[in-house]
Amino acid sequence: PRVAVLMGGPSAEREVSLVSGAACAAALRDEGYTVVEIDAGPDLCARLTAEKPDVVFNALHGRWGEDGCVQGMLEWMRIPYTHSGVLASALAMDKIRAKEAFAAAGLPVAESRLVSADEARRGHPIAPPYVVKPYNEGSSVGVYIVREKANAPAQLSDGMPETVMVERFVPGRELTVSVMDGRPLTVTDIVTDGWYDYDAKYKAGGSRHIVPAAIPADIFDACMAHAAVAHRALGCRGVSRSDFRWDEARGADGLVLLETNTQPGMTPTSLVPEQAAHEGISFGQLVSWMVGDASC
Ligand code: DAL
Ligand code: MG
Repeated sequence: PRVAVLMGGPSAEREVSLVSGAACAAALRDEGYTVVEIDAGPDLCARLTAEKPDVVFNALHGRWGEDGCVQGMLEWMRIPYTHSGVLASALAMDKIRAKEAFAAAGLPVAESRLVSADEARRGHPIAPPYVVKPYNEGSSVGVYIVREKANAPAQLSDGMPETVMVERFVPGRELTVSVMDGRPLTVTDIVTDGWYDYDAKYKAGGSRHIVPAAIPADIFDACMAHAAVAHRALGCRGVSRSDFRWDEARGADGLVLLETNTQPGMTPTSLVPEQAAHEGISFGQLVSWMVGDASC
């Protein structure tokens, strides 16, 4: 089949997506697919009409590519595409609404609320420590951690959306679980020097991944189960990745689900391919499975 790999696009995660897209395109070519790489711009619809792909491989991250917009366009064009559909994408990308769905499914989440960026700049909307983040971005773009006694983050950038999410800071470990075809793969423990920000995510040596995580069995199993429930609660399709924080000092009560990513990173050092490899699924097998799973 002829596969169009969508990558880049106008989101804050454009650069990450270009790396994900290039990696997936190369792997798909190795698997024998005819591949066309498309940097998703305003002419995307025309490009797809001209290229006539059998399947779209969505390697976009962030707004427009991960939030249901491009998915809606592909539904309209009747082109099967990888990963989640319109509703799951839109729900997952909105961290507040996703949390409502998680809480309704009985999953543990950290308390949070929406405030205006102005309010967040002026004073502490909730008691520190807390995290200020855009409610609809990925890769830790625009995320600030406000620690005990520190001032409110006056430096919240001008590019910050008018409304931001303020979430109780959960100390401890960063854990993640990929779900493929409804099945959780394994748990990775992400070890960083500081916190898992953009640089730690994408710079060489920025973080170390322990796969499978060397954590107590009850926490491991809870992460696996929660990721599968989160995937279902949002109505995800194909592959998703759910991110957790675990405050070891609080034991099983210290585990919270932060978010589910419907377009998780697919760069050569990304977490999903690494977990798949641990389960004996090569990168080529992973992307081929995604193409086979595509629908509209
Ligand atoms: N938002 C990035 C791509 C991730 O979740 O992997
Ligand atoms: Mg994310």
